This record gives sequence, C-alpha cells and structure tokens, in this order.
Amino acid sequence: MERISRSGRPCWVLVGGRRRLGRALAEDLARDHDLVLTSSESWAGETWVEELSTVAGIRTLVWNAESPEVSSRMMADLEALELDGWGISGAVILAGTFPGMPLGTWTAEGLEAAWRVNLGFPFLCAQALAPRLAEGACLQLLLDTAIHHPWLQRLPYSAAKAGLAALVPGLAQLLAPRVRVVGHALGTLLPAEGSDAAFLAERTLLKRLGDPADLARAVRYAADSPFMTGEILTLDGGRRWVDR
Ligand SMILES: NC(=O)c1ccc[n+]([C@@H]2O[C@H](COP(=O)([O-])OP(=O)(O)OC[C@H]3O[C@@H](n4cnc5c(N)ncnc54)[C@H](OP(=O)(O)O)[C@@H]3O)[C@@H](O)[C@H]2O)c1
Repeated sequence: MERISRSGRPCWVLVGGRRRLGRALAEDLARDHDLVLTSSESWAGETWVEELSTVAGIRTLVWNAESPEVSSRMMADLEALELDGWGISGAVILAGTFPGMPLGTWTAEGLEAAWRVNLGFPFLCAQALAPRLAEGACLQLLLDTAIHHPWLQRLPYSAAKAGLAALVPGLAQLLAPRVRVVGHALGTLLPAEGSDAAFLAERTLLKRLGDPADLARAVRYAADSPFMTGEILTLDGGRRWVDR
C-alpha cells in the first residue's frame, strides 16, 4: 500500500487550508505530514506557512471556486505534484462559505454563488483528486450538523451540505476499494463573526462549542480507520439531539 510521500511522511492535500479550521488542521497535521494547502488567493505574506515549512514539506496552490478554469488548474497542479514525486495519501476538503440568506432574499445569482463554492467546488475537487490519491487513501469532506437540523436563515448553505451528504456514500461506492470517503458533520467549532457563541453553546448537549482540536482528532481517526468508508461522523456536542 503506497501511503508515503517523497520525504517518507504521508502527504495530504487540504483544500481551503489557509484560514480558521483549515489553518488549525494544517498546523496540527504538519507535526507528522507533508501538506499541500490551497486557497482562493495568492499565499504571499502568509508568514505562518513559512514557519510551518521549517517542520514539514509544504506546497501552496491557488484554487479559486469562482474561476472558470478551476478544474483544469486543479488537474494540472495535481499532475505536477505527481511528477515531482509527491504521492498523495489523504485529502480534506474544507473550502466553503457560510452565507446568511433568509427566505425572501433568494435570487438565482445568490443561490448559484452559494452552491458553487459549497457544493459544486467540493464535487470538482473530489473529481480532480480521486484519480491522484494513492491506494488506501482517505478523502474527507467537511459538512455541517445542518444536514440533521437545517439552519433556517441559511437554507441554501444547508442544502449544499445536504448535497455533500449524498456525495460521501456515492463517492465511497465509486472509489472503493482503492480510496475511502468520510464526511464530518460539524457543529460550531469556530463561530462565524457576529454570532452569539454562548447561545450556540447552550444549544448543545455538552453545553460547549467545539474546538479545532476536535476536528483534528476526528480527521486523524477517519484516516486511521481502514474499515470505515461512506460514513458521515457527526461532531456537534449533541446539537442534533437538542430541540429547537
Ligand atoms: N467553523 C465552524 O465552526 C464550522 C461549523 C460547521 C461546518 N464547518 C465547515 O468546515 C469548513 C471550514 O470551516 P471554516 O469556518 O474554517 O470556514 P471558512 O473560514 O469560512 O472558509 C473555509 C475555507 O474556504 C475557502 N474559500 C472561501 N471561498 C473560496 C473560493 N471562492 N474558492 C476556494 N476556496 C474558498 C477559504 O480559503 P481562502 O479564503 O484562503 O480562499 C477558507 O480557507 C467549511 O466547509 C464549513 O462549512 C465549519
């Protein structure tokens, strides 16, 4: 089973590995992985990535969901990595937005934009990554506990994540037995700007928000569980069991 990159450490791709949960996951995984991190923008000036490069092999790429050329760009970048000897043994697709879109504000353009980055882009990333993943690799997608309880002010976002909830078992069937696919339905780990963290914490069984370390643990668990595929792990402090 080829699970090792050129440097002898597993090499993972983090799509959306620059901000918030993506950065936190990158910093955790860099202890024992080489990483390919993507962002929609240039990486110039990201000093934390330079610091990370002192402990891990790091490549940075620009993949922007808004670009019409994004699919060909992803394929060319992944081919170049392969030619450079980077064997990819894992990938986590974190990219997304969290738009507030109450009923009455929906437009065709707004819905398309919400679904392009939260649904279409993960589909395209999964398609580009699938043939490049080493045997035994695990492809992981970040969903939201909204797949159980939709956010009423964010139904287009919730619907996009529900679409990813169909992608996980479907892709698991298409890629088996070579590659496993796992999703994570997250409750609030890092609250969106302006949200009421205390209120969100109160609406969990555990009476707290999650932490990026909770995600890192779950991602490592899924990667290290060779009998798990097509599964969506819910990591929400019991949010799904609390009545509205
Ligand atoms: N934070 C939470 O508590 C929470 C809760 C439930 C689910 N989740 C899910 O977990 C994932 C990460 O959450 P987060 O809070 O860390 O998200 P975030 O900061 O809002 O964004 C995640 C990533 O999406 C990328 N992105 C945004 N627009 C993009 C575009 N046009 N093209 C390509 N990439 C784009 C961003 O990278 P750049 O800006 O560098 O391009 C960013 O790194 C998301 O899928 C989110 O839905 C998070």
